[in-house]
Amino acid sequence: MVELVIKDLVAGYGNVSVLHNVSLDVPNGQTVALLGTNGNGKSTLMRCVAGLIKPTAGSILLHDEGREIDLAACSPKQIVGHGVAMVPEGRRLFPLLTVEENLTLGAYRTEARAKLAGNIDFCYGLFPRLAERKTQQAGSMSGGEQQMLAVARSLMSEPKLLLIDEPSVGLAPILVSQMIEKIGELRESRGLTILMAEQNFNQAIKIADKGYIIVHGEIAFASKDATDLRENEMVKSYYLGA
Ligand SMILES: Nc1ncnc2c1ncn2[C@@H]1O[C@H](COP(=O)(O)OP(=O)(O)O)[C@@H](O)[C@H]1O
Ligand SMILES: [Mg+2]
Repeated sequence: MVELVIKDLVAGYGNVSVLHNVSLDVPNGQTVALLGTNGNGKSTLMRCVAGLIKPTAGSILLHDEGREIDLAACSPKQIVGHGVAMVPEGRRLFPLLTVEENLTLGAYRTEARAKLAGNIDFCYGLFPRLAERKTQQAGSMSGGEQQMLAVARSLMSEPKLLLIDEPSVGLAPILVSQMIEKIGELRESRGLTILMAEQNFNQAIKIADKGYIIVHGEIAFASKDATDLRENEMVKSYYLGA
């Protein structure tokens, strides 16, 4: 049982402030979409949760089995240790290492090392393409395959909360819907709690239990549930490309 609760988060780069009092929550077992077009602060928020940027105000709390963990006070390594994994924008694979080596490196956490073999099997089941390519260098694979590997590698750390930053970016349209469907399956198959940043509203709302729209670093809309998200006028207008 994990829940991510962000309250009044303020963060940025140097003296440029990007996030202005952002509040959101990701309830246990839900897939929550953080929707927004380019440059509105999605990745900045994800980096704050992963500990790569320290917020200047507000709180990032992880409720885990009755404990309350202040992620803003933790190092990125400690955050991984608390069961939070991120699939970063741009994937950040080890290009010269093979698929299987990349997966193995994802399991450096003690809890994850014990389950390494089982988790590799799970990843190959989820993405059979990776099994076919296990000895191929990650950098020589297509964009879609690399995104599969980035998602699979994040699962190797045995996360409870998964942060996925723009899984659809740079993929051919047919691969976008496949990738989104696979992410949708993780809620059931792994019991994962997911925060997914996307600018592809149309695809993201297919699997989201609820969502937020971020505009210029502020939450412009917070949905109650999936229906509320799909029927929102702002979502529809982005969806139609307005
Ligand atoms: N490393 C950085 N240094 C300075 N400014 C940045 C950096 N990364 C992002 N920004 C700025 O922060 C704002 C939000 O960016 P980002 O969080 O990447 O948005 P999104 O992920 O929604 O596209 C943009 O104005 C961007 O230029
Ligand atoms: Mg981004």
